Parts: sequence; C-alpha cells; structure tokens
Amino acid sequence: MSASVKTSLYEHAEHAARIIRSQYSEEVRVALVLGSGLGAFADEIQESTAIPYEEIQGFARSTVEGHAGRLVLGKIKGVSVAVMQGRFHYYEGYALEEVVFPIRTLGLLGVESLILTNAAGGINVGFNQGALMVISDHLNLMEANPLRGAHDQRFGERFPDMTEVYSRDYQEIAVEEAQAMGLELRRGIYAALSGPSYETPAEVRMLRILGADAVGMSTVPEAIIARQMGIKVLGISCITNMAAGVLGEPISHHEVIETGERVRETFKELLRRVIPRMM
Ligand code: HPA
Repeated sequence: MSASVKTSLYEHAEHAARIIRSQYSEEVRVALVLGSGLGAFADEIQESTAIPYEEIQGFARSTVEGHAGRLVLGKIKGVSVAVMQGRFHYYEGYALEEVVFPIRTLGLLGVESLILTNAAGGINVGFNQGALMVISDHLNLMEANPLRGAHDQRFGERFPDMTEVYSRDYQEIAVEEAQAMGLELRRGIYAALSGPSYETPAEVRMLRILGADAVGMSTVPEAIIARQMGIKVLGISCITNMAAGVLGEPISHHEVIETGERVRETFKELLRRVIPRMM
C-alpha cells in the first residue's frame, strides 16, 4: 500500500479486487479463510485459478509454516468460491489494516458470505483435541480493533453493530450438517489474543472466567471487518490442542499442524456440505 498519498484504502482495495477479477471473471459470493493446518481444503476446488498473494497489490505475505499464501478461486459443488489459503496475523507484525485488507477486497469483489476457520486451543474442558467448534461469539482481547483510524463510509458504518457477528443461520446450518455426518460440532466463544506466544495457564484460567471456550490468534479482526461490510460470517475452530495448563503438557506449533491434518477429511466434508447452503 505504497502508492500516492491521495489513493485511499478503498481505492487500494478496489484495485486489488480488479486484479482478482481480471483472472477470474465469475461472480463470487462465498469466501473462505483457511487456518493453520487447514489449507488442504483448497485442493477440493474445481476449475480453479490460483493467484499468489504477491500478485495482488496490497496483500501482504504469509510468513507462517502451514499457510500457503495464495487465493484460489473456483467451484465447490457448483458454487463459485474464493479461498484464502493462508492468512495474515497481527503477531507477524502487520498492522491490523493489512491483516484485514483481503477481507475488504473480497467484500468489494461481491462476497456476501465468509467462512473463517482457525486452529485454536480448547479452554472448555468438555472439548477434546481434534474437536470442531462453531463460533457463536467472540472476545476481542487483541488489544486493538481493525476499524481504528480514518473512517471511510464506503466500507460501512463508523460504529458497526456487533450483536450477531457470527450468523445464527449459518451456525444452525453447520450444526445440522455436522449432525447429518454423525459429527459432534460444539458451539462456543472464541477469544482472540495477539500472540505469538501461547497463553500461560493463569491466562487460560482468566479466559475461562471471561466465558471463552477456545483461544486463538486470528479471525476476530476479519470478522469485525466483514460485519462492517454487511458480510455474513461463519466461524469454525479446530481445537488442535487443549489450552495451556488444561492437560499440563507443553503446546507446540507442530502439534497444531498435525491435529489440523488429522481432522482434514472431516473438516473438508463439513465445508463441502455447508457451502451450497450459504447462498
Ligand atoms: N492458543 C492460541 N492459539 C492457538 C492455540 C492455543 O492454544 N492452538 C492453536 N492456536
């Protein structure tokens, strides 16, 4: 985002949307962001076009292992989708404005439904490693809000309502489809911290008292931006590990990726079932 000072963020996002449209001309109404270890879903996309993030002006680079760094466009069960294989995190050092730039771009591309996925630590002791959780609400404990700063009404309101960040309709659809698969899909509150260190056991106890069921380092800024733009959001966490202190074992990024890979097929199946119902 280094062009002339006169170019607004909105125009940057419009420019990025034009770059995408020049490579994929179909209308895209559904977008997905694939979290750590969950990138394999992109292989499901048919008639796909992949655009590396470095070709989309304004997109940052994904620096995390387990995040590929490309936008894949194509079809899932006949529905045109845009899939972010890899996202940008606040802990990578990016400004929140950069973290959410792709969401703004997808909004201008015409996306109306967004699935945000992530790897998260389980705080609710009723959860198991490898469980999937549909996000019912969040706690923004990231110390910042992506809407802080200059306001541009073209993106939406200055003070957007956050009563229903995660669409109740979409939560129902996800739970119904999971039931049809014989999969127990939990519902819970996702707390976002900036990271990148994992939490201490004391922090995890604090988060539990605050009402969190899972903890992670992403999703919330993207969800806030999507809501400002009127995009409906479905959030799904993969509980890749129990949060610090729950089992008394150390947490490793390796374990996070490995669990993501273990639930890969279940996760793919759930997404394949949910996407056609989001329209
Ligand atoms: N804490 C924060 N983020 C995470 C975790 C965790 O335990 N697991 C995967 N992402």
